[in-house]
Amino acid sequence: MRKIAIIGGSGLTELAGLEIVDTLERDTPWGMPSAPITVTHINNLEVLFLPRHGNPHTILPDQINYRANIWALHAADVSEIIAVNAVGGITQAMTPRRIVIPDQLIDYTHGRAATFYEAGLAEPHIDFTHPYSASLRRQLIVAANKTQADIVATATYAVTQGPRLETAAEILRLEKDGNDIVGMTSMPEASLARELAIDYACCALVVNWAAGKSDVAITMAAIEHNLRAGMDKIQTLMAMLINNKS
Ligand code: HPA
Repeated sequence: MRKIAIIGGSGLTELAGLEIVDTLERDTPWGMPSAPITVTHINNLEVLFLPRHGNPHTILPDQINYRANIWALHAADVSEIIAVNAVGGITQAMTPRRIVIPDQLIDYTHGRAATFYEAGLAEPHIDFTHPYSASLRRQLIVAANKTQADIVATATYAVTQGPRLETAAEILRLEKDGNDIVGMTSMPEASLARELAIDYACCALVVNWAAGKSDVAITMAAIEHNLRAGMDKIQTLMAMLINNKS
Protein backbone atom coordinates (compact mmCIF):
# COMPACT_ATOMS: atom_id res chain seq x y z
CA MET A 1 0.00 0.00 0.00
CA ARG A 2 1.31 3.51 -0.84
CA LYS A 3 1.92 5.68 2.17
CA ILE A 4 1.73 9.42 2.62
CA ALA A 5 2.20 11.38 5.84
CA ILE A 6 0.77 14.68 6.92
CA ILE A 7 2.64 16.62 9.59
CA GLY A 8 0.19 18.96 11.30
CA GLY A 9 1.30 22.34 12.60
CA SER A 10 -0.28 24.79 15.02
CA GLY A 11 -4.05 24.45 14.83
CA LEU A 12 -3.94 21.02 13.17
CA THR A 13 -3.57 18.28 15.76
CA GLU A 14 -5.95 15.82 14.09
CA LEU A 15 -7.28 15.08 10.61
CA ALA A 16 -11.04 15.43 10.46
CA GLY A 17 -13.38 12.72 9.28
CA LEU A 18 -10.88 9.88 8.93
CA GLU A 19 -11.22 6.59 10.76
CA ILE A 20 -8.04 5.70 12.63
CA VAL A 21 -7.09 2.05 12.06
CA ASP A 22 -3.78 2.02 13.92
CA THR A 23 -1.60 4.16 16.18
CA LEU A 24 2.22 3.93 16.03
CA GLU A 25 4.19 4.73 19.17
CA ARG A 26 7.68 3.63 18.18
CA ASP A 27 10.97 4.86 19.57
CA THR A 28 13.66 5.98 17.10
CA PRO A 29 17.47 6.29 17.39
CA TRP A 30 16.73 9.96 18.20
CA GLY A 31 14.05 9.40 20.82
CA MET A 32 10.27 9.53 20.61
CA PRO A 33 8.46 11.60 17.96
CA SER A 34 6.26 14.52 19.03
CA ALA A 35 3.18 12.31 19.44
CA PRO A 36 1.79 8.90 18.48
CA ILE A 37 1.32 8.63 14.70
CA THR A 38 -2.21 7.82 13.64
CA VAL A 39 -2.88 5.64 10.58
CA THR A 40 -5.87 5.78 8.24
CA HIS A 41 -6.69 3.76 5.12
CA ILE A 42 -8.43 5.32 2.14
CA ASN A 43 -8.86 2.88 -0.75
CA ASN A 44 -5.30 1.81 -1.52
CA LEU A 45 -3.63 4.73 0.24
CA GLU A 46 -2.36 4.73 3.82
CA VAL A 47 -2.34 8.16 5.45
CA LEU A 48 -0.19 8.71 8.54
CA PHE A 49 -0.68 11.81 10.66
CA LEU A 50 1.81 13.33 13.11
CA PRO A 51 1.14 16.56 15.02
CA ARG A 52 4.51 18.38 15.05
CA HIS A 53 3.93 20.20 18.34
CA GLY A 54 2.41 17.19 20.13
CA ASN A 55 -1.24 16.57 20.96
CA PRO A 56 -2.17 18.69 22.82
CA HIS A 57 0.13 21.36 21.40
CA THR A 58 2.97 21.73 23.94
CA ILE A 59 6.32 21.53 22.08
CA LEU A 60 7.81 24.85 20.93
CA PRO A 61 9.36 25.08 17.41
CA ASP A 62 12.97 25.09 18.63
CA GLN A 63 12.29 22.14 20.98
CA ILE A 64 10.75 19.80 18.41
CA ASN A 65 12.66 16.55 17.87
CA TYR A 66 12.64 16.89 14.07
CA ARG A 67 14.94 13.91 13.60
CA ALA A 68 12.69 11.60 15.63
CA ASN A 69 9.64 12.80 13.70
CA ILE A 70 11.12 12.30 10.24
CA TRP A 71 12.84 9.04 11.21
CA ALA A 72 9.59 7.61 12.60
CA LEU A 73 7.82 8.34 9.29
CA HIS A 74 10.75 6.88 7.33
CA ALA A 75 10.70 3.75 9.53
CA ALA A 76 6.98 3.44 8.73
CA ASP A 77 7.88 3.41 4.97
CA VAL A 78 6.42 6.79 4.15
CA SER A 79 7.58 8.08 0.74
CA GLU A 80 5.78 11.45 0.74
CA ILE A 81 5.18 14.09 3.42
CA ILE A 82 2.87 17.09 3.31
CA ALA A 83 3.81 19.53 6.07
CA VAL A 84 1.25 22.03 7.31
CA ASN A 85 2.73 25.21 8.83
CA ALA A 86 1.23 28.37 10.28
CA VAL A 87 3.19 31.42 9.09
CA GLY A 88 3.27 35.21 9.10
CA GLY A 89 2.77 37.15 5.86
CA ILE A 90 5.56 39.48 4.70
CA THR A 91 4.87 40.46 1.08
CA GLN A 92 1.63 42.00 -0.14
CA ALA A 93 -0.11 38.90 -1.46
CA MET A 94 0.44 36.94 1.76
CA THR A 95 -2.73 38.04 3.50
CA PRO A 96 -4.00 36.34 6.66
CA ARG A 97 -5.97 33.11 6.00
CA ARG A 98 -4.33 32.62 2.60
CA ILE A 99 -2.88 29.21 1.84
CA VAL A 100 0.64 29.37 0.40
CA ILE A 101 2.59 26.57 -1.29
CA PRO A 102 6.21 27.77 -1.05
CA ASP A 103 8.80 26.66 -3.58
CA GLN A 104 11.86 28.03 -1.74
CA LEU A 105 13.11 28.64 1.77
CA ILE A 106 15.91 30.43 3.60
CA ASP A 107 17.03 28.86 6.84
CA TYR A 108 17.72 31.32 9.71
CA THR A 109 17.52 28.70 12.47
CA HIS A 110 20.49 27.78 14.62
CA GLY A 111 21.45 25.07 17.04
CA ARG A 112 18.87 22.57 15.83
CA ALA A 113 19.91 18.95 15.30
CA ALA A 114 19.71 19.07 11.51
CA THR A 115 21.21 15.93 10.00
CA PHE A 116 21.20 12.16 10.21
CA TYR A 117 24.74 12.18 8.83
CA GLU A 118 26.51 12.18 12.18
CA ALA A 119 25.19 8.69 12.83
CA GLY A 120 26.30 7.59 9.36
CA LEU A 121 22.67 7.26 8.33
CA ALA A 122 22.65 9.78 5.48
CA GLU A 123 24.73 11.59 2.88
CA PRO A 124 26.03 14.92 4.23
CA HIS A 125 25.79 16.98 1.04
CA ILE A 126 22.27 16.52 -0.28
CA ASP A 127 21.12 18.52 -3.31
CA PHE A 128 18.73 21.05 -1.77
CA THR A 129 18.45 23.44 -4.75
CA HIS A 130 14.70 22.91 -4.72
CA PRO A 131 13.80 22.17 -1.10
CA TYR A 132 10.18 21.24 -1.78
CA SER A 133 9.02 18.43 -4.08
CA ALA A 134 7.74 19.77 -7.42
CA SER A 135 5.38 16.82 -7.82
CA LEU A 136 3.81 17.17 -4.37
CA ARG A 137 3.51 20.93 -4.80
CA ARG A 138 1.64 20.35 -8.08
CA GLN A 139 -0.71 17.92 -6.36
CA LEU A 140 -1.38 20.47 -3.63
CA ILE A 141 -2.10 23.20 -6.19
CA VAL A 142 -4.46 20.93 -8.17
CA ALA A 143 -6.30 19.95 -4.99
CA ALA A 144 -6.51 23.58 -3.86
CA ASN A 145 -7.95 24.66 -7.21
CA LYS A 146 -10.58 21.91 -6.99
CA THR A 147 -11.65 23.16 -3.55
CA GLN A 148 -11.58 26.75 -4.85
CA ALA A 149 -9.22 27.69 -2.04
CA ASP A 150 -7.54 31.05 -2.42
CA ILE A 151 -3.87 30.08 -2.68
CA VAL A 152 -0.51 31.54 -3.61
CA ALA A 153 1.40 28.92 -5.59
CA THR A 154 4.99 30.15 -5.20
CA ALA A 155 6.74 31.83 -2.29
CA THR A 156 9.92 31.85 -0.26
CA TYR A 157 9.61 30.75 3.36
CA ALA A 158 11.96 32.33 5.95
CA VAL A 159 12.50 29.83 8.73
CA THR A 160 13.30 31.66 11.98
CA GLN A 161 14.41 30.22 15.29
CA GLY A 162 11.58 31.46 17.52
CA PRO A 163 9.83 30.96 19.76
CA ARG A 164 9.44 34.74 19.87
CA LEU A 165 8.07 36.57 16.85
CA GLU A 166 10.39 38.90 14.92
CA THR A 167 11.15 42.62 15.24
CA ALA A 168 9.97 44.93 12.46
CA ALA A 169 13.61 45.41 11.39
CA GLU A 170 14.14 41.65 11.20
CA ILE A 171 11.08 41.34 8.97
CA LEU A 172 12.39 44.13 6.70
CA ARG A 173 15.66 42.24 6.41
CA LEU A 174 13.82 39.02 5.64
CA GLU A 175 11.86 40.87 2.95
CA LYS A 176 15.06 42.27 1.41
CA ASP A 177 16.44 38.74 1.40
CA GLY A 178 13.50 37.76 -0.84
CA ASN A 179 11.24 36.05 1.66
CA ASP A 180 7.43 36.17 1.36
CA ILE A 181 6.36 34.32 4.50
CA VAL A 182 7.94 33.64 7.88
CA GLY A 183 7.56 30.65 10.16
CA MET A 184 9.60 28.56 12.56
CA THR A 185 9.17 24.94 11.55
CA SER A 186 10.09 24.14 7.95
CA MET A 187 13.72 23.53 8.89
CA PRO A 188 15.33 21.17 9.50
CA GLU A 189 12.20 19.16 8.68
CA ALA A 190 12.52 19.66 4.91
CA SER A 191 16.23 18.81 4.70
CA LEU A 192 15.92 15.79 7.00
CA ALA A 193 13.21 14.43 4.69
CA ARG A 194 15.52 15.05 1.71
CA GLU A 195 18.37 13.19 3.44
CA LEU A 196 16.08 10.14 3.55
CA ALA A 197 14.81 10.67 -0.03
CA ILE A 198 11.27 11.36 1.14
CA ASP A 199 9.30 13.74 -1.12
CA TYR A 200 8.31 16.73 1.00
CA ALA A 201 6.12 19.78 0.39
CA CYS A 202 4.76 22.55 2.61
CA CYS A 203 1.21 23.83 2.82
CA ALA A 204 1.43 27.07 4.78
CA LEU A 205 -1.44 29.02 6.28
CA VAL A 206 -0.90 32.73 6.87
CA VAL A 207 -2.24 33.57 10.34
CA ASN A 208 -0.96 37.14 10.85
CA TRP A 209 0.83 39.98 9.15
CA ALA A 210 4.49 39.72 10.10
CA ALA A 211 5.91 42.32 12.53
CA GLY A 212 5.67 45.87 11.19
CA LYS A 213 3.51 44.84 8.21
CA SER A 214 0.24 46.11 9.65
CA ASP A 215 -0.82 48.84 12.07
CA VAL A 216 -2.58 46.34 14.28
CA ALA A 217 -0.70 44.62 17.12
CA ILE A 218 -0.07 40.89 16.67
CA THR A 219 -2.16 39.10 19.28
CA MET A 220 -2.51 35.40 20.01
CA ALA A 221 -6.29 35.87 19.96
CA ALA A 222 -6.20 37.12 16.36
CA ILE A 223 -3.72 34.40 15.34
CA GLU A 224 -5.92 31.72 16.87
CA HIS A 225 -8.99 33.15 15.16
CA ASN A 226 -7.25 32.96 11.75
CA LEU A 227 -5.90 29.51 12.58
CA ARG A 228 -9.37 28.16 13.29
CA ALA A 229 -10.87 29.67 10.15
CA GLY A 230 -7.93 28.73 7.96
CA MET A 231 -7.45 25.20 9.21
CA ASP A 232 -10.97 24.32 8.06
CA LYS A 233 -9.81 25.17 4.54
CA ILE A 234 -6.63 23.14 5.06
CA GLN A 235 -8.70 20.14 6.22
CA THR A 236 -10.78 20.40 3.03
CA LEU A 237 -7.63 20.69 0.93
CA MET A 238 -6.02 17.66 2.62
CA ALA A 239 -9.20 15.63 2.08
CA MET A 240 -9.16 16.55 -1.63
CA LEU A 241 -5.48 15.72 -1.99
CA ILE A 242 -5.98 12.34 -0.31
CA ASN A 243 -9.04 11.68 -2.45
CA ASN A 244 -7.10 12.50 -5.64
CA LYS A 245 -4.27 10.15 -4.63
CA SER A 246 -6.33 7.20 -3.39
N1 HPA B 1 6.70 34.85 12.56
C1 HPA B 1 7.24 33.63 12.74
N2 HPA B 1 6.51 32.52 12.81
C2 HPA B 1 5.18 32.63 12.72
C3 HPA B 1 4.56 33.87 12.54
C4 HPA B 1 5.36 35.04 12.46
O1 HPA B 1 4.88 36.17 12.30
N3 HPA B 1 3.21 33.63 12.49
C5 HPA B 1 3.05 32.29 12.62
N4 HPA B 1 4.24 31.68 12.75
